[in-house]
Amino acid sequence: MFDFKFDWCKEMEVGVSIIDAQHQELFRIGRDLEQLIFRSKNVTTQELLNLICELREYTSYHFYTEEDLMATYNFPSTNQHTIAHNKFRTNIMDINLPLLGKYPDQVLPQLKESLQDFLFNHIMTADRELGLYIVKQVS
Ligand SMILES: [Fe+2]
Ligand SMILES: [Fe+2]
Repeated sequence: MFDFKFDWCKEMEVGVSIIDAQHQELFRIGRDLEQLIFRSKNVTTQELLNLICELREYTSYHFYTEEDLMATYNFPSTNQHTIAHNKFRTNIMDINLPLLGKYPDQVLPQLKESLQDFLFNHIMTADRELGLYIVKQVS
């Protein structure tokens, strides 16, 4: 039985609607990734490329949104938070596309693990801290 992980639950919300909506979209990309793993024996190179491009683009867009909010509200942990973003940005830019194309059944599960680890930990700690801070500033 395949272990689907990217189901959104209300406990993941950080209280800022634009951030929560973008996190849900990242989870949607995570579910697309799980679907590709599910049928990794017959995925096309184009489907793999589309997924990686979407993941890279949407992650950059999302990190930019949060970093912009941090600057707007003078968030005290901006440096630490941005370092965490940059580390993950580098991880997904470093995905070895030729290797992925050759062995999708091995590389896709590794990618899922790393996306899952980052998203859950980061949202529940760093993004939650940011959300609480912004909610306090605007109320
Ligand atoms: Fe973040
Ligand atoms: Fe985030």
